[in-house]
Amino acid sequence: MTSVMRFLSSVVNILCIPLHLSHAVGLYGIYKRIFPFCINRMSKSYNKKMHDKKKDLFRALPEFKKAGGQLTILEIGCGTGANFEFYPPGSKLICTDPNPHFEKYLTETMAKNDHLRYEKFVVASGEDLRAVEDDSIDVVVCTLVLCSVDDVSQTLREAHRTLRPGGAFFFLEHVAGDTSTWTYFFQHVLQPLWYYFGDGCSIVRETWKYVEEAGFSDLKLRHIVAPLFFIIKPHILGYAVK
Ligand SMILES: C[S@@+](CC[C@H](N)C(=O)[O-])C[C@H]1O[C@@H](n2cnc3c(N)ncnc32)[C@H](O)[C@@H]1O
Repeated sequence: MTSVMRFLSSVVNILCIPLHLSHAVGLYGIYKRIFPFCINRMSKSYNKKMHDKKKDLFRALPEFKKAGGQLTILEIGCGTGANFEFYPPGSKLICTDPNPHFEKYLTETMAKNDHLRYEKFVVASGEDLRAVEDDSIDVVVCTLVLCSVDDVSQTLREAHRTLRPGGAFFFLEHVAGDTSTWTYFFQHVLQPLWYYFGDGCSIVRETWKYVEEAGFSDLKLRHIVAPLFFIIKPHILGYAVK
């Protein structure tokens, strides 16, 4: 089965040659402008299907508020702000994303979620959050981002660095399926095409391994089957304390 999977993946890779070439000559950069529009539509449908899961996950956020203070949240790869509605009222929010074209949608989401205090939007990748001080954040959030970053370990190091001791890293990510499933098979076959469709997204990443090795003191991680398109059904969610 593995050889059939590899063969089909190579066929898809060959079919993607025009995309590889566009990427190589810089034309694919145009998609960076279109991607936020796509994500704006998709995240509405994702939030509907994942509403209970997100509500459950973010229910634990207030536990990380300092006594008498407000909750400071840093969101890595915030996109259009699909998580804002789940954050506790009065939370202070620092948003980051490497794609500046999300700002238009982000501003709209901010206007709809006036229960939060927006500190700033920083155009930065998760691997380099130098705009955020060490030990300054109560909660770092990453949803559907670790599939897209170039360096997962470095992004987790940045999350860990910016968190205050006792702060928590919250995550919700689609991941590679179980090796014995058709989902795993098709994830590997379609990955070369999905990379472009998803703006650098990997559907074959075993993200839980990176989170487990990121040096957090306490990790609550669950594998779930999300009520989504079969190829992104396998998800992990949870939080880890610094
Ligand atoms: C599928 S979208 C998810 C957006 C949002 N987190 C959500 O849950 O709706 C992936 C996001 O990751 C961002 N991203 C891509 N590479 C990144 C990186 N290296 N560091 C941080 N974010 C990144 C993209 O710009 C995009 O906003």
